[in-house]
Amino acid sequence: LRIIDIGNGSIVKNLVRIAITKVEVGMFISEQTPGLKEAGLNSRGLISRLETLKKLQAAGIKELYIDISKGKSSRFVRPIPARAEQLKPRVGLKQERERAEAVYGDAKELVGNLLRNVKMGQAIDVGPVNDIACEINESVLNNANALLCLSHIREKSAYLLEHSINVGILMGVFTRFLGFSLRDREQLITGALLHDIGKIRVSNSILDKPGKLTGEEWAEMQRHVEYGEEVLRKSEGISAFALSVCTQHHEKLNGEGYPRGIGGDSISLAGRLATIVDIYDALTADRCYHEGKTPFEAIKIMSYLAGDQLDRELFYQFIHCMSVYPVGSLIELNNGRLAVVIQINNGKPKQPIVRVIYNARHRNFETIKVVDLSAAQCQLSVSSVVDPDKYDIDIREFL
Ligand SMILES: [Fe+2]
Repeated sequence: LRIIDIGNGSIVKNLVRIAITKVEVGMFISEQTPGLKEAGLNSRGLISRLETLKKLQAAGIKELYIDISKGKSSRFVRPIPARAEQLKPRVGLKQERERAEAVYGDAKELVGNLLRNVKMGQAIDVGPVNDIACEINESVLNNANALLCLSHIREKSAYLLEHSINVGILMGVFTRFLGFSLRDREQLITGALLHDIGKIRVSNSILDKPGKLTGEEWAEMQRHVEYGEEVLRKSEGISAFALSVCTQHHEKLNGEGYPRGIGGDSISLAGRLATIVDIYDALTADRCYHEGKTPFEAIKIMSYLAGDQLDRELFYQFIHCMSVYPVGSLIELNNGRLAVVIQINNGKPKQPIVRVIYNARHRNFETIKVVDLSAAQCQLSVSSVVDPDKYDIDIREFL
């Protein structure tokens, strides 16, 4: 884990947050670890004795910030989720739904207009995009699942528009999970909403081509990044963070990305985040020529890219953030019933709370029942993720 927010809004490099039970001798305790001073302990620095850890544990310290640039790293790079209490929704899903729908609608209208303006060669006004970014951020804080559910519902004909919004939403959800400051989150969402704006200058025959692109077509497709950069550089009020979301969202760690082919540390944090959310949404989207993958399949595919193309540590964070079965996914249970995930159980991503709706063996709908798969007496478990279209189920009715 290369970055972590330490609670004052700034992002610090090389810190990992790990449970004290996983800390080993040879690691370096950062002075940023909360609670050290309060406990009257001066235990920052290299841990040379087990006693130090025992003393900290006795003082009630449960987790430490370890500086991996100064001491031993940890194989427990999968972090304790960023302050779980901060990730708790402020309001219920039902309560946030209406607001989320309005935000989604506004975002679609705005980005739709921008795309039309850019097509006619006009520059864009970043101000309104920032405003929408704030609203997305607000809704994510209220209840992230409200917007995430909407991003599952897509029209094949509106790919570019919906993809732009969804990448914005995912960016908001992910950067909040990572504990980014409000300002950084808003800039990154703005960049995400605009990341593919250059595609409007690429002809539809290339964008929607079902088969393989010719060399020339592929080169033109890749140019959408430069077209986008050109538009954004002319636009007032664009931040460097937002700009690099656009310019680096197709760069890969191994240097085989485009347009610049920069790799490794040359790719900014914004670029690394953008690549992950962009690929995830592209994989899960229905396109005119193929059906979208389930979130589960998408994560599986991306796991093969992690480390080589994608930032591995950030990707693990992303899995953690999205959870294995996100709200809105349709799953089959081990008793042949289909259910919609309506809530994630903290710490038990494989055992969500679901609404059982359908008997897949008899192919009929059943009386709706809410089941908590994590409950001690519950014998049910998830056996697979199912495509709602296969059973002609409209998830919206059950959320
Ligand atoms: Fe793109």
